[in-house]
Amino acid sequence: MAMQLDQVVPFGRSLDEYRAMFSLSPDDLDSEIIGVADGPASFNAEMQALGKRVMSVDPLYVFSAAEIERRFYAVVDEIMRQVEETANDWVWTFHQSPEQLRARRIQTLMQFLADYEQGKAGGRYVIGELPRLDYSDKRFEIALCSHFLFLYSDHFSYEFHRAALFELLRVAAEVRVFPLLTLALKPSPYLMPLLEDLASSGYQCEMRTVLYELQRGGNQMLCIKRAGLT
Ligand SMILES: C[S@@+](CC[C@H](N)C(=O)[O-])C[C@H]1O[C@@H](n2cnc3c(N)ncnc32)[C@H](O)[C@@H]1O
Repeated sequence: MAMQLDQVVPFGRSLDEYRAMFSLSPDDLDSEIIGVADGPASFNAEMQALGKRVMSVDPLYVFSAAEIERRFYAVVDEIMRQVEETANDWVWTFHQSPEQLRARRIQTLMQFLADYEQGKAGGRYVIGELPRLDYSDKRFEIALCSHFLFLYSDHFSYEFHRAALFELLRVAAEVRVFPLLTLALKPSPYLMPLLEDLASSGYQCEMRTVLYELQRGGNQMLCIKRAGLT
């Protein structure tokens, strides 16, 4: 089904946030990375500015920069109003306040938009969607997926999550997913069955506590790789 822009919350995160959410080391940042569901994150743009190459895949990239920007400004006030109303559901350490969060989301969007058309032409922003990716087996060293899998457990089924994770593991040697909570701040009901499923298929899964927590209780990242690999 074609993506409708009015169903998307075009909020993106920065390189600093990706580094913290995924515990990315300097060596990790030098590896071949694919960011799936990267949306309007500035991760790709900031990595490019550092001379590192990231491939970002998202169905959002069917839209132009102007369309994505219009959508952001159509929803930002309402989303920030909801955040302020539920201030206790959020941890104000990485971002110090709702005002700072808003300013940083705008800054992130601006960095993304400034890089978007050029990055699309250069093949760094690719239209695509889980659970099927157009890449050969093990094309990447690390696949990152932030604020999509598990978070939208009420919208996407267990089978979708399973197929998506196995597809990410097909194209990358290691997969990292953050957060593991749903939008309702509950652990995803899919997590434990998927960990069993992955373990019985020969994968090693590790839940790591990371130095990023905005959703209260959401400071865990799932790292998956083939058992036996270091
Ligand atoms: C909340 S945004 C997260 C953006 C970015 N990862 C970040 O954390 O800043 C969720 C993204 O998931 C994307 N998305 C929706 N359906 C998808 C699918 N089937 N496969 C991959 N991405 C999808 C949306 O377009 C949106 O950009």
